[in-house]
Amino acid sequence: MVKSTLLVMLLAALLPQTGIKPRTSPSATANAYDRGKDIFVSRCAKCHDQDANKKLPDGTTLLLRLAKNKDPEARLGTRIKNVQERHEVMLYVQTLIAQLRPSQEAQKRP
Ligand code: HEC
Repeated sequence: MVKSTLLVMLLAALLPQTGIKPRTSPSATANAYDRGKDIFVSRCAKCHDQDANKKLPDGTTLLLRLAKNKDPEARLGTRIKNVQERHEVMLYVQTLIAQLRPSQEAQKRP
């Protein structure tokens, strides 16, 4: 008798938790990043490479130019008119720039 009462209490304590678990859905940011990557790969990569690292006529790369720029998103705006697309591409390019920074910082050190 005591055992079954305990069991019922235990079940009652556990039950409310089932079904509340938040569904892990991909975040909106990840989607925007993926769209930006798609845009860049399909429309820009043939001249700039997927990682924006292809040498331009003057020896720099798009990635380096954007990394040095104060407002890289505005620079992208010279090539992508659609504000949303531009922002999505910026999310993608930003991760490329972030990967670039550590090696640049390392070079700066004496
Ligand atoms: C047909 C080849 C080609 C394609 C496609 C292309 N680019 Fe470029 N892009 C270039 C070249 C070449 C330059 C360098 C021009 C120069 O020396 O100023 C350049 C320069 C740029 C610059 C200027 C960087 C700066 O501030 O100096 C940006 C921004 C840029 N590209 C973004 C893009 C984006 C975003 C896409 C895709 C939507 C794209 N490009 C597609 C060839 C291309």
